[in-house]
Amino acid sequence: MLKRLIHPATPGGAAGAGYSAYMSIRDQAFELLAANRRTTDGHMYTVPSPDAYPYQWLWDSCFHAIVLAKSEPEAAMAELRALVSRQFPDGMIPHIIYWVPGNLHRYDWGTNGTSALTQPPMLAYAVWEIYKETHDDAFLAELYPALAKYYEYLIDKRDPHDHHLVGIINPDESGEDNSPRFDAVLHVPADISLHDHLARRLELVDANRTCDFDAELCMKRHFWVKDVPFNAILVENLRILEHIASLLGKEDGEHFCKLNIELVSAAMRERLYKDGIYWSHVAITEYEPLTVATWAHFAPLFADLYTPGEARALVEGQLFNEDTFWSPFGVRTVSKQEEAYRPDGYWRGSVWMAPHWFIYKGLMKYGFAEEARVLRDKSIALIEHAGFREYFNPETGEGYGAKDFTWGALVADMMDA
Ligand code: GLC
Repeated sequence: MLKRLIHPATPGGAAGAGYSAYMSIRDQAFELLAANRRTTDGHMYTVPSPDAYPYQWLWDSCFHAIVLAKSEPEAAMAELRALVSRQFPDGMIPHIIYWVPGNLHRYDWGTNGTSALTQPPMLAYAVWEIYKETHDDAFLAELYPALAKYYEYLIDKRDPHDHHLVGIINPDESGEDNSPRFDAVLHVPADISLHDHLARRLELVDANRTCDFDAELCMKRHFWVKDVPFNAILVENLRILEHIASLLGKEDGEHFCKLNIELVSAAMRERLYKDGIYWSHVAITEYEPLTVATWAHFAPLFADLYTPGEARALVEGQLFNEDTFWSPFGVRTVSKQEEAYRPDGYWRGSVWMAPHWFIYKGLMKYGFAEEARVLRDKSIALIEHAGFREYFNPETGEGYGAKDFTWGALVADMMDA
């Protein structure tokens, strides 16, 4: 327990009022996942929100599978099978699969019924969560070739100058579409509107299209960011893939993972870390830090990339600092000190459940169980207050964006503290 935990846990905590609230939200989470389940052409998947996001998204499906693993492992398996069924020949897994063509709210992020971008590589983690519950070796063996091909694609095609850091070609690949972390690369001002920001990202997709989404060309010509959460998530997933490869007796795969865990971790330390904090960088020619302070600072906790001393300083000095990230309703995605900070802004300061979940897991990893419980209780209180919304105002708890949004279901996986 930190000496200065600013906000004590909800009275009663997990064993009192918090426990029944948790159980109720948990039940609602499973109901929501069941209600958002769809089947198209024999593929079963879950839409993040029926109105706003009526397709299948890559990291969302990994979140769904992580939660479903414990209650409905067959549905969790089906969700991941649907994802890998649209893997590209080069190994990339697209960030959206438009199972129902010509449906609502479709922006063209690519071609042939899918986007041509990817999203943070949570797939191995999701597969492993299912395996932990089922011990189904056949499922591991079935998914392994797609997993191996996907992570090899990232290491190979997304790192053409062999710096051992994987690049993203569009902010949407970070999963944080509008984050001001990318403003400098997009050449947009801190107060840009949601509408203008989307227009700018769609322009980038058009530019990506002129390179035929070839990652090397796209990165060299238009947008090449070595993003901290993406690479931290990669490292943690490679650790899991190494374990899967070893269980399946895939020595080459095991070796590939072991090597790249070391290389990517070391490169993150060498190029993205400064004075106690990891920063994303733009890397077209020189490495330039992207200096807007966002929750990305905390993502490496998920992959054990800070030393215990650094983690303590970060958690105490930033995560639980009310002047920067800690708010009455959880963790701001952007520091309150930033010019771009907007409590109602889409990824520009508002609270989102996936960052909460990653931070929760990171806190647990470093033994900050009490702090993790506080964050879990904040997440539950927020959903009780505003429902299963897409994002939330950190200062007032108001919910915004998509309704019946599945990310709130991640609280069902925050049970250990
Ligand atoms: C938004 C989020 C993205 C998510 C998608 C579907 O675009 O920024 O991370 O995958 O919605 O929920």
